[in-house]
Amino acid sequence: MPVERNTMNFENLLQQIVAQPELHAMWLNTLSMMENCGARKISASEHTQNVDLIVLKHAAEEARHAYYLKSQIAKTGFKGCETYQPASLLSPVQSFQYLHRLDASISRYLKEKCKLNGNELKYGSYLLVTYAIEVRADELYPIYERVLKEKSSPITMRMIIVEEKGHLEEMIEQMERFFPDWQTHGAFSLELEKQLFRDWEVSLTSEVEKYYANLQEIA
Ligand SMILES: [Fe+2]
Ligand SMILES: [Fe+2]
Repeated sequence: MPVERNTMNFENLLQQIVAQPELHAMWLNTLSMMENCGARKISASEHTQNVDLIVLKHAAEEARHAYYLKSQIAKTGFKGCETYQPASLLSPVQSFQYLHRLDASISRYLKEKCKLNGNELKYGSYLLVTYAIEVRADELYPIYERVLKEKSSPITMRMIIVEEKGHLEEMIEQMERFFPDWQTHGAFSLELEKQLFRDWEVSLTSEVEKYYANLQEIA
């Protein structure tokens, strides 16, 4: 039977992904890879001595999200996605680029606009990049959770949603302490992230469309 598909918004896209075990497994693996990248970036941006409880908690929780998301793959019924090899990810290039481009552009902005360098640049960059990602996480995980519920999936994002909310509050507190005018920098970061997210979404959409087109051919 042909699959009915309209122009998709993000929620539709997730419905299409969750409906296919293989796509769903790859989606969980992709999110896991991105969470893991986030955890590694937080650790890499740490000062050798000035490390407080919030930063350690944040790095530990992002690493746990990566672990949790990967551990849920088995529940999709799909066997595979053991590693982050490109063939086991959705839009591997764009998924990697999303984080790296955000990171690179924010670093350039802080260097040129705010004249930061060294440890201050590392920390400022951690703040702005993570802030934008937390804003996105606060939007994306609840949409995903809604789709999972709709499909009566045994997978839930409840724990991640609670922790991401905490992260966003903590990022704002840290930004208030570090930047004299955190709103301006925060807005710049959000604007940049929006464009990168859009590119990622376009690429995911085309991959999912191709997957469904293939299914129809086989049928
Ligand atoms: Fe996370
Ligand atoms: Fe987070």
